[in-house]
Amino acid sequence: METTVNRPTSLQGTISVPGDKSISHRALLLNSMSSGPAKISGLSFGEDVRSSIECLKQLGTLIQTSIEAETATITGINRAGFRAPSNVLNAGNSGTTLRMLAGILTAQPFSSTISGDPSLLSRPVKRIITPLTKMGARISGRDNNSLPPLIIHGTKLSGIEYTLPIPSAQVKSCLLLAGLSADSPTTIHQPVPSRDHTERMLSAMGAKINVSGNTITLEPGPLAPVDTKIPGDISSAAFWMVAGCIHPNSKVKLVNVGINPTRSGILEILANMGADIVIEHSESQGGEPVADITASSSTLHGADISGDIVPSLIDEIPILSVAACFAEGTTTFHDAAELRMKESDRITTTVSELRKLGAKIDEHPDGMTIHGVGSLNGGICEGRNDHRLAMSLGIAGLASEEPISIFGAEISSVSYPSFWEDIERISTGNNV
Ligand code: S3P
Repeated sequence: METTVNRPTSLQGTISVPGDKSISHRALLLNSMSSGPAKISGLSFGEDVRSSIECLKQLGTLIQTSIEAETATITGINRAGFRAPSNVLNAGNSGTTLRMLAGILTAQPFSSTISGDPSLLSRPVKRIITPLTKMGARISGRDNNSLPPLIIHGTKLSGIEYTLPIPSAQVKSCLLLAGLSADSPTTIHQPVPSRDHTERMLSAMGAKINVSGNTITLEPGPLAPVDTKIPGDISSAAFWMVAGCIHPNSKVKLVNVGINPTRSGILEILANMGADIVIEHSESQGGEPVADITASSSTLHGADISGDIVPSLIDEIPILSVAACFAEGTTTFHDAAELRMKESDRITTTVSELRKLGAKIDEHPDGMTIHGVGSLNGGICEGRNDHRLAMSLGIAGLASEEPISIFGAEISSVSYPSFWEDIERISTGNNV
């Protein structure tokens, strides 16, 4: 699908973005390991979360969904109730499904295989195979254990003490889920905190988990089901925050957005860049902080983004790159080599697609430098099979001099199926 986005005379409106994708996966996966029914509201129905739903159904979990109401009832069957899948489990495009499910399945008394789409088949898995093997797991991958599909022969596990070589929430969560079924505690040291939704949910479900600084200790044990109200996804809200800032006549309100500090680095960086962003009605919802966020036309300037803040905005770098093009001055991204391991090599794809639109960008092994001039020309570009890149390019079209046509725009459905409708809806007045 090719979509063309023009700059409207104004951007106005209120948007309720889809439920947080990371929390949606966790609400499904963790409740499937519990012993009773749980109601989940605000669930994301992007393709990634649907992949988790389909895999869990194949493992015998009862899940009833209402896409319109964005709800699901999941009846946990306890870990002992999973049944051997009769076919390969398909995680689609979802790295979170692949890695977290692997943590669950290594301790199950049956064999399973997890595969996915061509993008997922190029995502690294040694990062989970190495520590899971230390726990006693029998798990292997293609190309000397570096790539999926994953082949798992379930067995008994022992807890380990492990220092994560990279700040990855998927790896951390995989080990915690495996650790629940081990015969001794698991301790994980993280170099820098990554998103902590798993820790929060495990605690809400009665797990014996202790977080002290950057160290997490989990004792094996059962989980109680937990009803979960999922906040809006800050990674989806990020597109509209930037749209609101870069369009010259705009005010966009985002309601009920998750602002967990391990995810909200974009708010700090946009504030540093001079963004007019107002955060109101902060409250706690199901153990996660949420707020309404309003972004209005701003004069942005460049910023330096590196170090410990990077994991808290890792998924927002494509859209922050768009903000940097519309800022005056230089923006640098460093310490972000992990971007090369995402749905696409997000450093190379972001640089090459934004260049097609007139951006001045230098590529670095661990990031990029963007020489912002306050505008982008526009033109033709591609989503590169990467949902976050395709949507970032769409947002650029809301403020560029000439229209932007994006080939492969449909990939947005991985996390945000109604994205292009929402663009249409908040673009008011005659397109210019
Ligand atoms: C996710 C963790 C992040 C993020 C991904 C979702 C998660 O990856 O990029 O989109 O839900 O745990 P890391 O495992 O590299 O932290």
